[in-house]
Amino acid sequence: MRKLHQLGGTMPEPQSKKLMTNNLNLRYCVENLSKNPGAEIIRYARRKPDILSLAQGEGDAATPDFIADGARRALDDGKTFYGPVLGLEEMRQEVSNYYSRLYNLNMPTNRIYMTGSGTTAMHFALTAILNPGDEVVAVTPIWKNLLGAIELAQAKCKEVALREIDGRWELDMDKLMSACTKNTRAILVTSPSNPTGWVMSRDEIRDLLEFARSKGIWIISDEVYARLTYDTPAAPSFLEQADPEDRLFTINSFSKAWAMTGWRLGWLTGPAAVEPIIQDIALYNSLSPNAFTQYGAIEALRHGEDFLQQQLDLWQSNLDYVYERFAAIGRVASEKPQSTFYAFFRVDGEKDCLNFARRLVDDVSLSLAPGCAFGKVGQGYMRLCFAVSRAKLENALDRLERGIKT
Ligand SMILES: Cc1ncc(COP(=O)(O)O)c(C=O)c1O
Repeated sequence: MRKLHQLGGTMPEPQSKKLMTNNLNLRYCVENLSKNPGAEIIRYARRKPDILSLAQGEGDAATPDFIADGARRALDDGKTFYGPVLGLEEMRQEVSNYYSRLYNLNMPTNRIYMTGSGTTAMHFALTAILNPGDEVVAVTPIWKNLLGAIELAQAKCKEVALREIDGRWELDMDKLMSACTKNTRAILVTSPSNPTGWVMSRDEIRDLLEFARSKGIWIISDEVYARLTYDTPAAPSFLEQADPEDRLFTINSFSKAWAMTGWRLGWLTGPAAVEPIIQDIALYNSLSPNAFTQYGAIEALRHGEDFLQQQLDLWQSNLDYVYERFAAIGRVASEKPQSTFYAFFRVDGEKDCLNFARRLVDDVSLSLAPGCAFGKVGQGYMRLCFAVSRAKLENALDRLERGIKT
């Protein structure tokens, strides 16, 4: 065991997975599952009683009552039984209405599948299309759990990094296309991006769709942050330009825009032809999404716009505040993101982000996500979630300032 810096706690020495699992004869891909440095820091930070955490990707506002009341009513009405495998028809129709309002789309409900979370939607999509050894080309930096889902599907992941030019993140489309080989089964894009806030343009979406179509490659588009944009009502969606039968899955969730992380509810869209396949996958995986949460989610879609706007107003002013503080602190390199509630930044002289994240926990009781949790290109960066009260944010930035200066 090794002593932790100042904290006095102990953390096991990294050792081979084989030893840790004591030769239980587990699946190869499980024994070799990569570590999640973000989750490690969150666990590490929990040891400190005075920790202030901006490491997790969620706001600190509780789910508003008009949503919670929908679920409460459902519980009172005895909606506690198994439901339809792909979600309540009323719920699926509400998602369809939402797409019609937001993007002027006609999405029939046989293209909309409710899932136990955005994460689950990703697993269902991968289960539907990947054979062991297939390749997924993922645009990074990216939320580590999506890479973990690819590992669990026994597929290979090729990372194509966005490039940072003067603080702005950009996609090199040629690089992305030339990374695809005959083994590539899917391209995974998250736009808006967690952690960079990069948003894919409509032109880029059009080009990638055309390319994927010509090669027969699936696109998996994670659109969980689609509503967290500061200058438009929503980020462009692949659904706006795709043909209904294109090999396209989109992933979405109630977690972020409607303050429902703990509810565990999301949805997947796909071409209508995959409905029976996803139905079987969902049936064997979990039988159906949670019943009563869907009644809350229906309220979220029907009446959630004002709440979302209030949240965005707070986050926009927090965003400005974070970047004012960064400028005043100095040694912090980053440009304001266009979307999401994350600041993704580098600190001059801090090359090892995991060490820096541990030091911030030890020295100033601040927990931030290390950039290496978002793929290789994230090494040296830190991610701070600013979807919190101003008082908490001020406190966190005071701690960060002290952490940088010590
Ligand atoms: C890009 C991305 N996709 C999906 C999710 C997961 O959403 P859910 O809470 O619905 O599983 C997250 C959560 O942080 C995320 O950042």
